[in-house]
Amino acid sequence: MAAADKLAIIGSGTMGAGIAQVAAVSGIEVLIVEVDRKAAETGRQRITSGVQRGVDKGKIPAGERDRILARVRFASTLKEAADADFVVEAAPETEDLKQKIFAELDRECRKDVILASNTSSISITRIAAATGRADRIIGMHFFNPVPAMQLVEIIRAQATSDETFAATRDLAVRMGKTAVEVHDFPGFVSNRVLMPMINEATFALMEGVASAEAIDQVMVLGMNHPMGPLALADLIGLDVCLHTMEVLQRGHGDPKYRPCPLMRRMVDAGHLGRKTGHGFFTYPARAPQPSASGAGRHRS
Ligand SMILES: NC(=O)c1ccc[n+]([C@@H]2O[C@H](COP(=O)([O-])OP(=O)(O)OC[C@H]3O[C@@H](n4cnc5c(N)ncnc54)[C@H](O)[C@@H]3O)[C@@H](O)[C@H]2O)c1
Repeated sequence: MAAADKLAIIGSGTMGAGIAQVAAVSGIEVLIVEVDRKAAETGRQRITSGVQRGVDKGKIPAGERDRILARVRFASTLKEAADADFVVEAAPETEDLKQKIFAELDRECRKDVILASNTSSISITRIAAATGRADRIIGMHFFNPVPAMQLVEIIRAQATSDETFAATRDLAVRMGKTAVEVHDFPGFVSNRVLMPMINEATFALMEGVASAEAIDQVMVLGMNHPMGPLALADLIGLDVCLHTMEVLQRGHGDPKYRPCPLMRRMVDAGHLGRKTGHGFFTYPARAPQPSASGAGRHRS
């Protein structure tokens, strides 16, 4: 990363705001490009309360608060990212949109600038093909919530250079994260391992092997997982899980990634998990904890 240390982040949603917060706390100047004014405002509030939480917990000196917040600026067009030294894209998970954003960034940004994507499942190699700098395109996959999660999965695409990988790893480390190198195959490592486990837990439920509560208990108490796969699916969103299984199935061309029909049926019914109040478990409105009566009861 060049000495100026200016990071542009595209999108100020769940991930963009979290990445911006962590970068600003690490002393990096951040420009967030957000097309939706309301989302920009929500992102700003999220960053402010995130930094305040750090102060309240004693992790950030109170005197640093305003200096950190002053490092984050907002813009509404990609043109304004022209003087960035490094770009992390965290726009919605749509391949066409990401390719469009990368093509424009490629035109606007200096030739030495690395353009990274926070995509969870789109091929970094296909995103790179929309630019004229494939050696400087890379995946930088942060996890939610960004301030709390230690991992950044760094995805090398077909033409990513060693210099690009090293600079991206250095940025992740500077942000206090642990960088893990992976290669560009569908689902990378995180979703390739996690999602089939969730999918298999859904098959086990569909086939009546055990109740939802029992399946999660086996994985929590027997495998020491912090939460069961079905509760985790509810947290992630069943629509996101289904989409990722489809990406794995299409990308690998292997029937072992077939999405469970029950998962598809629940998505069709709008039972997406915590965000809709119904998934494998039920959730009382505004309190994102499984309800005592609903926990373990399969609702679809
Ligand atoms: N949410 C997660 O748990 C998670 C975890 C890891 C990776 N990801 C990935 O991170 C990316 C972002 O996810 P998210 O959950 O933050 O999404 P989000 O919907 O919360 O935020 C996306 C933001 O991008 C903005 N946007 C849309 N088009 C834009 C454009 N052309 N230029 C600038 N901003 C634009 C939207 O207004 C929105 O505020 C996705 O690729 C997703 O797969 C998400």
